[in-house]
Amino acid sequence: MKLIKAVRGTKDILEGTAAKYSYIRRVAEDLFSAYGFSYIKTPIFEETDLFKRGIGEATDVVEKEMYTFLDRGERSITLRPEGTASVVRAYLENKIYAKEDVSKFYYMGSMFRYERPQAGRQREFNQVGVEVLGEHSPLLDAEIITMSYHLLEKLGITDLEVNINSIGGNETRQKYRQALIDYLTPFKDELCEDCQRRIETNPLRVLDCKVETCKKHTQDAPSIIDSLSEEERNHYEEVKKYLTIFGIPYVENSRLVRGLDYYSSTVFEIVTNKLGAQGTVLGGGRYDNLLKQLGDKEIPAFGFAAGVERIMMLMEDIPAKETDVYIAWLGENVCEFAMKLADTLRKENIKVAVDFNAKGMKSHMKKADKLNVKYTVIIGEDEMAKGVVVLKDFASRTQEELTVDQLVEKLK
Ligand code: HAM
Repeated sequence: MKLIKAVRGTKDILEGTAAKYSYIRRVAEDLFSAYGFSYIKTPIFEETDLFKRGIGEATDVVEKEMYTFLDRGERSITLRPEGTASVVRAYLENKIYAKEDVSKFYYMGSMFRYERPQAGRQREFNQVGVEVLGEHSPLLDAEIITMSYHLLEKLGITDLEVNINSIGGNETRQKYRQALIDYLTPFKDELCEDCQRRIETNPLRVLDCKVETCKKHTQDAPSIIDSLSEEERNHYEEVKKYLTIFGIPYVENSRLVRGLDYYSSTVFEIVTNKLGAQGTVLGGGRYDNLLKQLGDKEIPAFGFAAGVERIMMLMEDIPAKETDVYIAWLGENVCEFAMKLADTLRKENIKVAVDFNAKGMKSHMKKADKLNVKYTVIIGEDEMAKGVVVLKDFASRTQEELTVDQLVEKLK
């Protein structure tokens, strides 16, 4: 019989990666709550129009990477390719703006993009991300970039580079767009096929094309920073000032434009050179126009998302938590006592292993040895009759008789 395998571009998270996944979740939750964020969980699929309108029709994600299908009721549905549009939809739909001035959400879960799978790039991948709605201060930009850097630091990831840029508002980008078209048009034939099309649809994207000839031609392209208005420039200067105050090393990268259309003003990415072509671990920025686009509301916003698979590739292995105690019991009548004891100890968060079948002592000791436990509790008919257990300490090679209460106290 042919064994069914996971679909191309998807991966099971198990064993060592599962330990990393839950560790990332715990570290992120602790850190985000210190910054006042609360959890949000939105549906895995949404109406296709949400992403078309939110992310932009001329982006790679919407043009060629979405998992879109008609459901049985003939509705066009898309598996979410990212989290921002859904969080904004939930925020608008639930009128959260009427309940609080500033909202801070974090999420972690699967996203779907039909990309060519390779190391660090999957079709189903996981993001951990945050969104802040209702705050326009540049201090927020600096604070959230700082938080994202601390997240990776806390996960033990080093040699990171924070890249920042400002892409201004709509007006600035319109002006810059024309300057860029004028600059690129003479080389149009030498650009890659995608970029030849992008000159018409989304010329800013030519700036972060990875094809060598495109990179060469954009090296001396005009910088978007020169097109910023005074207000936009001041905002950007404040962000940089506060990043320095927070002690975050950053590099200004005027070619950083991001792949989704909702951004304006500050954009940033944290990159590593340890993951080959998929070096962007985390990215985000300001999206002050998205709430207007989706809900006709003038509400500023800022957020980022990190690729969990990429983080896991960069992280050291998490040592598995060892079993504390192995309960070795002998004699059919002892079973109930042993199971109840395991339950009592587990309620105290003591990690217990207990076998459901009473085998010989030799087999028990083999199992205890394999689990590398610190202690074994031995219970036979005699001990049970006396209401005691024998605790064997492997490190000190000693053993003692204890009541259950004494055992719990000792192991706690
Ligand atoms: P993004 O840059 O498209 O931004 O994705 C964020 C991160 O997700 C990337 O830096 C990368 O680590 C990871 N990622 C993206 N695609 C894949 C893939 N196919 N396989 C593995 N990892 C991948 C966003 O999604 C925005 N929603 C971020 C944001 C939040 N901006 C504002 N708020």
